[in-house]
Amino acid sequence: MSTHRSQLWAGRFDGGPAEALQQLNDSFAFDRRMYVEDIQGSRAHVTMLHEVGILTAEERGQILDALDEVEEEMASGRFEATAGDEDIHTAVERRVTEIAPDAGGKIHTGRSRNDQVATDLRLWTKRELVELARLVLGLQTTLLRRADEAGDAYLPAYTHLQQAQPVTLAHHLLAHAWALSRDVERLSQTLARVDVSPLGAGALAGSSLPIDPERTADLLGFGNVFDNSLDAVSDRDFVAEALFDLSLLGVHLSRIGEELVLWSSAEFGFVSLDDAFSTGSSMMPQKKNPDIAELARGKAGRLIGHLTGFLTTLKGLPLTYNKDLQEDKEPLFDACETVRLTLLALDGMFSTLAFRSEVMAAHADNPYAAATDLAEFLVKKGVPFRTAHHIVGRLVRAALAGEGTLPDLVAAHEDLGPEAAELMTPGASVANRTTHGGGGQESTAKELERFRSSLDAARRRLG
Ligand code: ARG
Repeated sequence: MSTHRSQLWAGRFDGGPAEALQQLNDSFAFDRRMYVEDIQGSRAHVTMLHEVGILTAEERGQILDALDEVEEEMASGRFEATAGDEDIHTAVERRVTEIAPDAGGKIHTGRSRNDQVATDLRLWTKRELVELARLVLGLQTTLLRRADEAGDAYLPAYTHLQQAQPVTLAHHLLAHAWALSRDVERLSQTLARVDVSPLGAGALAGSSLPIDPERTADLLGFGNVFDNSLDAVSDRDFVAEALFDLSLLGVHLSRIGEELVLWSSAEFGFVSLDDAFSTGSSMMPQKKNPDIAELARGKAGRLIGHLTGFLTTLKGLPLTYNKDLQEDKEPLFDACETVRLTLLALDGMFSTLAFRSEVMAAHADNPYAAATDLAEFLVKKGVPFRTAHHIVGRLVRAALAGEGTLPDLVAAHEDLGPEAAELMTPGASVANRTTHGGGGQESTAKELERFRSSLDAARRRLG
């Protein structure tokens, strides 16, 4: 059969497609990854076609058998594509019709590739987002375990990348873990909007045949069915939303990556990376590089690019289906794959790295890090905070000018004295901060329990 006659829409055409058109137009190379969903959608469709009396039981049986065979060919890599297979839908229909020539010609009854592609992509996205959310839970579980193991260890926390106040290491690790909880929540909320079946919208306006969109939605496990056929075939909000969720997740992973880059440097020395999760230099024998952390940082750019690129594609598209929409798949596939790999690598990196809590503590015990505690000591004695801030600020200034160490100056100060100087002994500052959600050991212990139950709840929700 010539390429031309095997084209689904060949009837209306005299000649075959130009090579240049085919190369730009064809999506089979990337949308074949949805073959499971495409075949699943076809099974539901022909089942429904039989139920409403459009297909005989025999025709339905022949098509279902042919679909099984095509699925097997696709899964085993034995499927042989032909030049006319412009996309996954075309390829599957072509092959089904080869296997079951008479019944196969009826598979596309009451259906268009426009509702079909939207159905496939929603099914694919549903499965993928659940899997990614589970991987996020996996990374959170690792962070929680490391936080648990960190015990009372503490480090300086930073603002402006300047040492600010000491906090427990567990509190710091959980800060990232809580941000990831919002990502899981966001993915779940997006899933609710992905979970709408567009099948039965036809090309754009439904059908004169007695098809049953509610039934196919049910068969495919969708929670909802479309309300408007025009919207059903043109809506790609779910792709944009998924790309946003993955971008923000990617931004969170990039912040974690950047911290690991800093922490593994000789200047910080807060962590040492496991060999399996570090790389070397081709020239400098002494190097051990945090490539995974850098890639976690770098991949966010690519994810944000996919989001802005796709929003730009959607912008200004008139109703309904336009071929521009074929640009939905590559960014989505790539974003999912990128996030999947990054989550797995960061999880491995966190599972295996060693925290150097003695280095962290040495930095955190810098007396200046207790300056806020000194001001709060004065507040407890009735000094207005602004005045207290000023008094301590003057002492810090004097210490920096070489008039004495800060502890000595504090001990000698009439409003502060030796009791206040105690606040600068190692570990005192962090232990003294006991408020809700704060960075001291007592608060962190409660936070760990809250996080554990919120993670358990998220796990139960995802099933
Ligand atoms: N490959 C197409 C896509 O990904 C499928 C829909 C084609 N529809 C059409 N009317 N040409 O969007």
